[in-house]
Amino acid sequence: MKILLTGGEGMLAKDFLSVLDQFPEFECYAPPREELDITNQGQVESIIKNYRSDILLNCAAYTKVDKAETESALAFHVNGISVGKLAEVCHRSGVKIVHLSTDFVFDGSNSTPVTESNYTVPLSVYGKSKRDGEARIEASDADWLIVRTSWLFAAHGNNFVRTMVRMGSERDQIRVVSDQFGSPTWTRDLALALCKLIRGNVQNYIHFGGLNSCSWFELANYTLKQAYQIGLVPTLPKITPIQTRQYPLPAPRPAYSVLSNQRYQELTGSQPMMWEEAVDSVLKRLHEQSQDE
Ligand SMILES: NC(=O)c1ccc[n+]([C@@H]2O[C@H](COP(=O)([O-])OP(=O)(O)OC[C@H]3O[C@@H](n4cnc5c(N)ncnc54)[C@H](OP(=O)(O)O)[C@@H]3O)[C@@H](O)[C@H]2O)c1
Repeated sequence: MKILLTGGEGMLAKDFLSVLDQFPEFECYAPPREELDITNQGQVESIIKNYRSDILLNCAAYTKVDKAETESALAFHVNGISVGKLAEVCHRSGVKIVHLSTDFVFDGSNSTPVTESNYTVPLSVYGKSKRDGEARIEASDADWLIVRTSWLFAAHGNNFVRTMVRMGSERDQIRVVSDQFGSPTWTRDLALALCKLIRGNVQNYIHFGGLNSCSWFELANYTLKQAYQIGLVPTLPKITPIQTRQYPLPAPRPAYSVLSNQRYQELTGSQPMMWEEAVDSVLKRLHEQSQDE
């Protein structure tokens, strides 16, 4: 099965490429952005037509959540309009589009894990642009799968776990919001899930988030305690829980966006990693990387 991967240098895409050795039935081509910019219709048409893949896995996205509030046109261009065009070209070429979306399409008013059939009410420009991409795929005649995920982290790229480790080495005190709850998800675990979903030809929406849930404060606390224990940070900083209103950011965030993994579990027979276990694995990798430097 041939997979064409967009956004190949991103955090998730890198882990997707790294797990492919476990799926010998997949052949994957990940052109660099200069060769495949998803806003460049000419490049999109020519690569999809020439590579003749079975799947287009779209990991390309505009992901600057706060900057999107002032770069709305760009966010919608990349996450909405271009995604719709990708789906149209996929349909014309008989390619299934597998696309990534986000918990930010929800408003956070739930108190139980959010399912695929929950209403979307994005709060931020980023969330609205991602929802626009989803809607355009739905409206296309392409075969599609949209995987919504949340709070991604990895041993590479910009993410909260790495930020905490860096801040833990620089500061004595850290303030972290304790009134936003979600499912921290390791990109490697998500990459394995994507492979299973592609192999199983799963369609429609799937939610995939690390088990179970926590607040940003709990994630920071756990990350730094474990990082300290393995010697990745020299001292344990004091972590103070604060309210969202005490740390205003340009983009509003959902207060509760824990994703229900039930459909994923039913369709694949597997379940996501516990977020604590995933954090441990990433910290171990960061520690190994620091020893190599
Ligand atoms: N990170 C999270 O916490 C999170 C949570 C939920 C859902 N998601 C979704 O998961 C997916 C993967 O996220 P990620 O964290 O891996 O994002 P990422 O690290 O920001 O990767 C996105 C990649 O897309 C590239 N890109 C941007 N515009 C492009 C274009 N026009 N053409 C081709 N490539 C382009 C970016 O390149 P540049 O770096 O050069 O811009 C970057 O390499 C995205 O759909 C995101 O919305 C992420």
